[in-house]
Parts: sequence; structure tokens; C-alpha cells
Amino acid sequence: MKHLVLIGFMASGKSTLAKLLSTSLNLPIFSSDEWIVKQSQMSIAKIFALCGEGGFRDWEMRACEEISSLKERHIIDCGGGFVLKNDVQRLGRVYYLKASLEEIKQRLLQQDQREIRPLANSIENLYFQREEIYTLKACKIIEECNQTQALRAIIEDWKKNS
Ligand code: S3P
Repeated sequence: MKHLVLIGFMASGKSTLAKLLSTSLNLPIFSSDEWIVKQSQMSIAKIFALCGEGGFRDWEMRACEEISSLKERHIIDCGGGFVLKNDVQRLGRVYYLKASLEEIKQRLLQQDQREIRPLANSIENLYFQREEIYTLKACKIIEECNQTQALRAIIEDWKKNS
């Protein structure tokens, strides 16, 4: 099954874009974060507090198995660290939604994110480590564009390559 897979740093706009893509392409969304919260019956912050980052990454591996067993094509909205332990390329066509560090910082400042995103305090270090991984794993990098342009670029590529 070839899914449309969105990867990228936290607050890069993956979930918003997933919704727009879902409407335009008429495909359902699978959000790894939402699946984990539902299955574990815990918030992400609680999983980090009780089981550490490693425990959360294990949940992401379970989410990846679940995605592999889906019978219908989906838009896969991956949590920012989903790429660390999972072979996302195996899941479908991977789009890296790239936003600048400044942009990410601005978005994370807009509300207190610690409750929602336990790693939001370490963005500076994480950004540069992750950027390399996202770039390596992407089939296509979507960068420096607004939501409408990003949507158009992904749809155009998806129609050619799906
Ligand atoms: C994380 C990103 C979050 C969430 C968790 C860990 C990360 O998802 O999975 O807080 O390691 O970058 P979003 O990218 O949807 O914020």
C-alpha cells in the first residue's frame, strides 16, 4: 500500500496540511500521535513522563506496524520523531514539510507547548539533527512556501507518482 506520508519538525504544519490534502484527495488521515494517544489512553506528555522518550518511540513503532496493515490508502501525519525508529519510505511517498528554525520557534511560542510537545524545549539542537534525517528520508522536500503552495506542490507530485 502506498500512502502519502508527511514528515517534518514539530509545528511545521503537517497536521493542517494533512487535513487540506485529505479534503482535496479524498483520502482518510492516519495521525501517529492521535493513534498513540487513543491506544495508550494517555497524553503524549504522560507517556514521556512515565516511560521516557524511548517508551514513546516504542509506541511510534507500534503505530508504524498499524500503518503497514492498513488496507486503504491514507495521508500519514507523522509525529516529528516518527522517522527516528521507522522506515517511513517503506510506507509510501514521503514529503518533508520544511520550515525554518525561526518559523518553528515562532509557532511554538504562540502557546505553551510543554504540555503538548515534551521536546519543545530542545528545538535548537533537535532541529539540525533532524533536518538531516528528514532530508535523507524524503522523496520530495516542500519548503519555503505557504500552505496553498505546499498543497499544490504535493498534489501535483502525488498525481504523477502515486
Ligand atoms: C515529537 C513531535 C510531536 C510528538 C512528540 C514528539 C518529536 O509530534 O510526536 O511530542 O520528537 O519531534 P508533532 O510533530 O506533531 O508535534
